[in-house]
Parts: sequence; structure tokens; C-alpha cells
Amino acid sequence: MQVALAADHAGFFLKEKAKEFLQEKGFTVKDFGTYSEEAVDYPDLAAKAARAVQQGECTYGILFCGTGVGVSIAANKLRGIRAACCTDCYTAAMAREHNDANVLALGTRVTGPGLAMRIIEVFVQTPFAGGRHLARLEKIRILEEKEL
Ligand code: RB5
Repeated sequence: MQVALAADHAGFFLKEKAKEFLQEKGFTVKDFGTYSEEAVDYPDLAAKAARAVQQGECTYGILFCGTGVGVSIAANKLRGIRAACCTDCYTAAMAREHNDANVLALGTRVTGPGLAMRIIEVFVQTPFAGGRHLARLEKIRILEEKEL
């Protein structure tokens, strides 16, 4: 499974931790930057990784900024992207199981590295439940079609 990673300067620290963590677990990681703590604009980075998910190059995207909020808002502007900003494992599991989220957003200034790696692990390991949730996702797709 290939995972797209991207961060702004504030998220850089957790992105580096996540890269190491995922590679140790056998995932192939595609790192879309940023590559230092020099200030950049989070929508640019979020869009690069989200685009790789949208185009099927990567199964999931994991985005990082100060809070996870900015990158999730930006990623959700791309058609077919369902980005979830998570600060706990339960939300990450439900984001996959119920919402079939394909992008996880985390905040370096909010979530410590230990918890962040657990959230990532839960996210990439939890399957979508399908069933009744499919009709709800279809409604989201229709909203997207009308609005984007
Ligand atoms: C950068 O200072 C910060 O605004 C950004 O990383 C993010 O938290 C925005 O949502």
C-alpha cells in the first residue's frame, strides 16, 4: 500500500516521524514535502498529496499542519477526497469504518508523536464497513457534484 504524506512547516516534525513509522511497518511512502521548517502555505502541500490519492496513485494521504485543520479543509476541496482531522483513535477508526475517509489530517501542535502514530496505525488498518454507509457517501458525492 502506498501512502502519500505532506506537511507545512508546522507539520514537518510529525511528517518525518510518520514516514519512519510507516516505512518500518512495510508501507511505501510518497513524501510530497515540505522538507524543512521554513514557512510554506499548507494548501499547496495538502493539494499535492490529496491529488495523488484522488488519482489513485496512493491509497491514503496523511497530512500535517499545526492543528490538522488547515490541511483537512484544503484537501476536502478536491473531488473524491474525504479528509478527517483526528485527535483520537476512535475518531480515526470511525472515519474509516463509517466515512471511508481516504485522507487523515493531524496537528503537530495538538497531538504528540506517540498518539499520532497510534492514530495513523488505526486509520490505515481499519476497513470501510460499507452497508448503510454507502448511501450516505453517495449523498456526499452528489453534494460534491453540485458544489465543486
Ligand atoms: C501555521 O502557522 C499554521 O497556521 C498551520 O500549520 C495550520 O495550523 C493551519 O491550519
